[in-house]
Amino acid sequence: MHENEYDRYELLVVGSANADLVIEVERRPAAGETVLGSDLAVHPGGKGGNQAVAAARLGARTALLARVGDDAHGRLLLESQRAAGVDTRGVLVGGAPTGVALITVDPSGDNSIVVSPGANGRLTPEDIRAAGPLFEAARVVSVQLEIPLDTVAEVAGAMSPGTRLVLNPSPPAPLPDSVLAVCDPLVVNEHEARSILGEAAGSTAQEWARALLTSGPRSVVVTLGAQGALVADSRTGAFVTVPSPEVEAVDTTGAGDAFTAALAWRLGQGEELTEAAAFAVRVGAAAVTRHGAQASFPTAEEVSGP
Ligand code: RIB
Repeated sequence: MHENEYDRYELLVVGSANADLVIEVERRPAAGETVLGSDLAVHPGGKGGNQAVAAARLGARTALLARVGDDAHGRLLLESQRAAGVDTRGVLVGGAPTGVALITVDPSGDNSIVVSPGANGRLTPEDIRAAGPLFEAARVVSVQLEIPLDTVAEVAGAMSPGTRLVLNPSPPAPLPDSVLAVCDPLVVNEHEARSILGEAAGSTAQEWARALLTSGPRSVVVTLGAQGALVADSRTGAFVTVPSPEVEAVDTTGAGDAFTAALAWRLGQGEELTEAAAFAVRVGAAAVTRHGAQASFPTAEEVSGP
């Protein structure tokens, strides 16, 4: 029987929580140039915070392990998590100001982001060790790279045999073999795949997935925006493309986080990788049709297929 201060979670997200400061622009400024944009919007964000809210909004029992500052942005982020139903007992407060993301969104809905990690950079391996019961209670753990790499390595080392690790290496950074070996899956977009693989990347999603699999993960998912996703599984040797529904994109911010959260949740429910990815592309597609990150994430009813 499971004995733990926490109930069983379908998903534990370990990662960043940022205040997103968003300005819409006609085009991004070149070096040395100034452009005018829209009024400033402040949204709750961060790749970890976004994933937790996306999963909870879909109905997943979700917990977040993160660090925010003892400030107004930190309170905004905690409120957003709680409103979505995320268990925030693992959110640590203090040590540095809350992380901030400066985001510009262009008329096509594409974004550019600069992150000041702040408190995210103070989420330590010790914080992970102290959260043992949260890890024991989780079926799937999802992590990204807006927190220190040694903290991510500690998360990978904290996986128990029955727990699955989903890693989105964003922003991309070289990862130790010990981390790559427990990813199931490693979730990358084109930019992340090219950055990790370097010159030898090749030019197709199949080539990226094949090359990434040889670096250790048990499975790889390459997200392809409007084209959906490619799923590659080393156990079956199968490479399957999952198409995305056609939608009108207004803001892609957080869509990758929504995709990864949906994927991780459905894997925790025992779905096969391809089946979980087919659900996740619908969630990612819905997220690009609305502005902001967390505000754009759908409920399960909104993405229930025919
Ligand atoms: O993936 C989108 C997120 O990246 C934004 O919410 C921003 O906070 C950055 O972390």
